[in-house]
Amino acid sequence: MKKIGVLTSGGDAPGMNAAIRAVVRKAIYHNLEVYGIKHGYQGLMEGSIEKLELGSVGDIIQRGGTMLYSARSEEFKTEEGQRKGIEQLKKHGIEGLIVIGGDGTFRGAKKLTEQGYPCIGVPGTIDNDIPGTDFTIGFDTALNTIIDAIDKIRDTATSHERTYVIEVMGRDAGDLALWSGLADGAESIIIPEMDDEFDEVIERLKRGHERGKKHSIIVVAEGVTSGHKLSRRVEEATELETRVTVLGHTQRGGSPTASDRVLASRLGAYAVDLIMSGKAGIMVGIENNQLVNHDILEVLNREHKVDLEMYQLSKELSI
Ligand code: F6P
Repeated sequence: MKKIGVLTSGGDAPGMNAAIRAVVRKAIYHNLEVYGIKHGYQGLMEGSIEKLELGSVGDIIQRGGTMLYSARSEEFKTEEGQRKGIEQLKKHGIEGLIVIGGDGTFRGAKKLTEQGYPCIGVPGTIDNDIPGTDFTIGFDTALNTIIDAIDKIRDTATSHERTYVIEVMGRDAGDLALWSGLADGAESIIIPEMDDEFDEVIERLKRGHERGKKHSIIVVAEGVTSGHKLSRRVEEATELETRVTVLGHTQRGGSPTASDRVLASRLGAYAVDLIMSGKAGIMVGIENNQLVNHDILEVLNREHKVDLEMYQLSKELSI
């Protein structure tokens, strides 16, 4: 293999740049040429492809976002779109592709591999919802962004003796809500993986209030309900003054944490090792701090699981 390509697709995540850098530097270290594909699969179909050099990825390890830009492409979900993408790759003499993104990105990689084009997936999404890896690139940074925000909200919640509902991202997964809620001592954490616990949330709020607790934090994952709806329900059920904060896309930005930079560097470099050894149709990940790889199809068929012991612990600590 002489030439490989790299792209980022789907929702961006802090640390994607560090992963691109690792792919480029590791590939050049092994005398490969590397091509950056801009705007994800959409840019691939349109031939938005340029050669990357060592210097192209200088000064990006600390930056959020992705220097290759990102997009979500409906057209690439079609066979025609995939055929266009492969044509572009062949036109540039690119023999293998490393894609950085979430499950939608991995579906694209699987399709390309099924059509005979070698692809490797690197998990980059703040949602931490990819089975086959303990952590995805961007999760730790998003978590720290959320914690920073909740700490600030807690100050004003205390001053005004209010209840706060904080809506966090995660699509259908509750990891961001669970980890941030636990790290911030939230009174309640509501995640899609667990049954509706509204009554329990209200009970806990009332119990706390009777004990003299004047402010509370409820973290809700966007996959359950909107923070605004929940806040109205809470206020109606408790008559406690309630406010809502939707953290939104602030969770996707910012300089990656050390942990995300290291993870991205390890996974990006490992993906290059694997593509050079002729592997395809796999994703790289980290399990128990060891680099691992799994068949993409097998991973996409698995259900993402949230850590139920951690969920139980969050309840025990917020009685
Ligand atoms: O997958 C990452 C993510 O930020 C999710 O948490 C969220 O639901 C979604 O992307 C938002 O997507 P968009 O940026 O297209 O609004």
